[in-house]
Amino acid sequence: MSGGASRPIVLVGMMGTGKSIVGEALSRRLEIPFVDLDEVIERRDGRSVQEIFAEEGESRFRQLESQSLGDILASTDSPFVLATGGGVVTISENRDLLIDSPSSVVLLEASIDELARRLAGDRSRPLLAGDVHTALQSLWTAREAQYREVSDVVVSTDGHTVDEVADLVIKATVKAA
Ligand code: S3P
Repeated sequence: MSGGASRPIVLVGMMGTGKSIVGEALSRRLEIPFVDLDEVIERRDGRSVQEIFAEEGESRFRQLESQSLGDILASTDSPFVLATGGGVVTISENRDLLIDSPSSVVLLEASIDELARRLAGDRSRPLLAGDVHTALQSLWTAREAQYREVSDVVVSTDGHTVDEVADLVIKATVKAA
């Protein structure tokens, strides 16, 4: 399928829900550019997400994240796929940007058990220090309403392959648009 997307698709959701890999699949299928918010932040800042957290803390990371999100959403009228970082919805300015943008905002969901399995042993995510299941559960409790506030569509990823999730996103966004 090509040329089917008339507006940007923004993927939100917890760490480990597959926002980046599903975003890449959508980009190939719809033949539109893929942008990964964490990668944009890292490229602009010259440091990894981990280094930014370690050297200047989460609040500095959130500032950089908000700047990049605003710039990306304002950058073009052409459709693209954007994979955001899991905490983008925690900042009210970001939620407003997402709600006000002409994008289809898609929440990718997975059970906490499944996310904990996928992320076991992950060393790249500063907010998963300690017990991964406990950390994910408390982040989800704090964020669930924020994810739902910004999302137009919710897609469950449990038990689905990346291609199946991409299909579900396309059905829920492009074909409905
Ligand atoms: C974060 C998620 C990460 C990254 C950073 C903070 C979060 O992105 O932005 O480690 O607060 O949930 P992914 O969701 O792509 O892992």
